[in-house]
Amino acid sequence: MNQGRYLIDFNLKDIEKEYYDVLIIGSGIAGVYTALEIPEEYKIAILTKESIDISNSVLAQGGIAVSLDKGDSPEFHYRDTIYAGAGLCDEKSVWILVNEAAQNIENLLKFGVNFDKESPEQLSLTREGAHSKNRIIHAGDSTGKEVCDKLIYVVKAKDNIKIKERVFAVDILTEGNVCKGILALDEETMSLKAYISDIVVCATGGFGQIYSNTTNPDVATGDGLGLAYRAGCELMDLEFIQFHPTVLYHHENKSFLISEAVRGEGAILRNVNGKRFMPEYHELNELAPRDVVSRAIFEEMVKTGSDYVYLDITFKSTDYLENRFPNIFKTCLGYGIDISKDYIPVAPAEHYCMGGIRTDVFGRTSIKGFYACGEAACNGIHGANRLASNSLLEGLVFGHKIGEEVVEILKNRTDNYALDIKSRNNYTKKEVNIEGIRKELQKLMTEYVGILRNRDGLMLAKQKIDSFYEEIGNLKSETIKEFELQNMLLISKLVIDSSLEREESRGAHYRSDFNKTDDEKWKRNLLKVRN
Ligand code: SIN
Repeated sequence: MNQGRYLIDFNLKDIEKEYYDVLIIGSGIAGVYTALEIPEEYKIAILTKESIDISNSVLAQGGIAVSLDKGDSPEFHYRDTIYAGAGLCDEKSVWILVNEAAQNIENLLKFGVNFDKESPEQLSLTREGAHSKNRIIHAGDSTGKEVCDKLIYVVKAKDNIKIKERVFAVDILTEGNVCKGILALDEETMSLKAYISDIVVCATGGFGQIYSNTTNPDVATGDGLGLAYRAGCELMDLEFIQFHPTVLYHHENKSFLISEAVRGEGAILRNVNGKRFMPEYHELNELAPRDVVSRAIFEEMVKTGSDYVYLDITFKSTDYLENRFPNIFKTCLGYGIDISKDYIPVAPAEHYCMGGIRTDVFGRTSIKGFYACGEAACNGIHGANRLASNSLLEGLVFGHKIGEEVVEILKNRTDNYALDIKSRNNYTKKEVNIEGIRKELQKLMTEYVGILRNRDGLMLAKQKIDSFYEEIGNLKSETIKEFELQNMLLISKLVIDSSLEREESRGAHYRSDFNKTDDEKWKRNLLKVRN
C-alpha cells in the first residue's frame, strides 16, 4: 500500500489556519445534532464536503426506533437489538441506546421535528424487521429529511456554529497520539487550510460507495475511516456490511430504497413466479432480520434465474399508500409502477456499515481528542447486523453523549496549540483513470465481497486491489475524486482483510466456505490498526 501518514505533502507553518473549540466533520444527523448538544459559548465549525443537506441521514425513510408504546419497554428494544446483532453487540452501548432514546426524541420535538401522530398526544408507531413491538416513529416515508431539515434550520440560526460547505477533510492533524485539528481542502479555491482544535468529531457516515448498488449518496466514500486509520486509530467490525433487502430494481434506478416500513405494513415478498417465499426461510417471514431476508432474496434470485424479486403491497388502497408512503408512491409511479396495482421489482443493495472507528459510549477513539459518532463510528450497538431504525437513533443518543463529554474537556482545557507538523512523501502527479478504477472497484466488491463471500473470491479481490495500488503508485492526489478513491481503496482492502480473517458466518457476514457460526472461536470483534 502506498499511502503515507498523510495523503498530501505539506508544512503546517505555510498553511492558513482557523481556530475553533470543536470541529465536526460531516453534516448528517450525528454531526448536526452533536453540534447542537454543545453549549453556545463554544465556537464550532461543521465541515462538509458537499452542501450541508447532502447526507445519508437525509435519505433515511423508515424512522427511528424508540419504545413508547404501553406494551413496550427499553428492555424489549434491548432484547431485539441484541438478537439482530447475532452475538456481537456491546451490551453496555445497547443499554444506553435504548434507555436514552426517549429523552433524545423529546429533544427533537423541541427542535420542531414533526412525526406522524395517532392523536395530538400520541406519535404513530409502526414495525420493521426483527422488532417484537411497534416502535418506529416516522414522518411519512421521509423521516431522515424531516429530522435533518429541522436540525439544519436550528444550526443555521446559531452564531457559534460555522458551516463550512464544500470543504474536504483530507486528514486529521496529530502530534503523537493527540488530535490537533484537520487538514482540509477548500473545493472552490482548491487550497489547503488547517482547522485547528483539540477536539474533532468525525461524523462522516459510511462507505457504501465501495459497492455498485447502494442506497447511499455519492459522498459515502469512507473518508472519515480513511483519515482515522492513517492517523493510527483503531477500526472495528469492518466485515459486517448490511444489504437492504428491498431496493428498487429498475434500469434507471437501482438505489432507491423501498422502506422496510412497507413490509412493516404487511407487504409480501414474492419471487418472479409470484410465489411467496419468506415462510420457507424464517418464522418472522418478511420481518425477519435484514441479513436473513437479503440472503433469502438472493437465493430466490439464483433459483429463478432473475435479477430481482417482487414486493407486493397491492392489497392496500391508493389513498392509504399515497398518504403513508408519499415519496415511494410518487417515485415508483415516475417509473411506471403503480404500487397499489403493480408488484414492485426489488433486489438487495448495500445500505449500512456496522463497522467503523472504534469508540466507547462517549465517542472516544484511540486518539486523544478525536471522537466519532453515527455510521462512521463503531461502539458495538449493531453487532453483526443492525436492527432497523436504530441508526438515526444512534446519531442522536451518542451525539448527545459526545456533547456531555466535550463540555467537561472544554471546561478544563489549556489552549496549547503546538503546531510543528509537516509531511513529505514525495507524491507525484500522474495520469490515472480515477473514474475507471472507482467503477472497477465497485464491481469487484459487489461480486466478491457482497452478500455471499468465500476465500477464493476474497483472495481474488485482494489481489485486484493490490493491482489498483500499483496502477496509482505514489499518486499526488489533488482532486476530491482522487482523495475519495484513496479512501475507498484503503477501506475496501481492510473490509476484505477482515472478511478473510473471520472464518465463520455471522449476521451480515456470510462465508459459503464457513457457513456456520462459531462462537467459541469468533464471538469477538476484529480490529484493524495501522502498523
Ligand atoms: C428503511 O426505511 O427500510 C431503512 C431503515 C433503516 O435502515 O434503519
